[in-house]
Amino acid sequence: MEIIILKNAESVAAMGGELLGELLRVRPAAVLGLATGSTQLALYRQLVEKHLAGDISFKHATSFNLDEYLGVAADNPQSYRVYMDREFFDRVDIDKQNTFLPYCEEGQNPRLVGPRYEEKIRQAGGIDLQLVGIGCNGHIGFNEPSSSLRSRTRVKTLTRQTFKDNSRLFSKEEFQPKLAITMGIATIMDARRILLLATGESKAEAVSKMMEGPVSAMCPASILQMHERVTVLLDEAAAAGLRNRDYYDWTYRQNESLKDRFGIDHD
Ligand code: GLP
Repeated sequence: MEIIILKNAESVAAMGGELLGELLRVRPAAVLGLATGSTQLALYRQLVEKHLAGDISFKHATSFNLDEYLGVAADNPQSYRVYMDREFFDRVDIDKQNTFLPYCEEGQNPRLVGPRYEEKIRQAGGIDLQLVGIGCNGHIGFNEPSSSLRSRTRVKTLTRQTFKDNSRLFSKEEFQPKLAITMGIATIMDARRILLLATGESKAEAVSKMMEGPVSAMCPASILQMHERVTVLLDEAAAAGLRNRDYYDWTYRQNESLKDRFGIDHD
């Protein structure tokens, strides 16, 4: 894991934007795995700014989102489709025909959505970079604790904690779903590169379990220890529980010097 600890959430978003920008410059037809949640909002703002400044284009890119609520219409303001359109897709030059979420149309069997989504990802050539956040309970996507580490895209029931954590985003009158369709843990692990962003003190415990705890289905994000190419961007608050902090900072500095001296990345 490449671990980068930055001053605050803004710097995390800025560095995330740099990494994604680099990828798109090298590979304009990149297949991006995207995520929702409040942590990613600042990153999308960065990407929009870069696009408006003429630095990056998403014209040839394809995207697959991690998850979508089940039983929430695509045009419902609470759907992840609306979130993605509002925060990102409608503000850049991506062809919306090439943006996908694991959405279950009315009348469709939700159990068929996952295998079709997986097939679509395969047809696109697999995901070049998967963006992920982390839940306070260590979930990635909606892979809640106890999810199979080899799971593929499927229906999942949210835990009471996730339901509670996300309730801040719903008004009293709004239907809040307890079900979602999410990429599985194995689906996420198939991505060629993973970029995880975590900010704020509420994530500190999950981050330390993910990075320094055992690999366990009880902390789904801990499986990332077994991925070959993960970059974790943290702010100070989210990094507060790390025991090995000094080594991460030390490594980051060595890495920077490798970049300066040899123009290469090491992780
Ligand atoms: C949500 C999403 C995850 C997200 C996580 C954290 O429930 N399904 O993909 O990473 O929880 O969200 P936030 O960034 O709002 O803390």
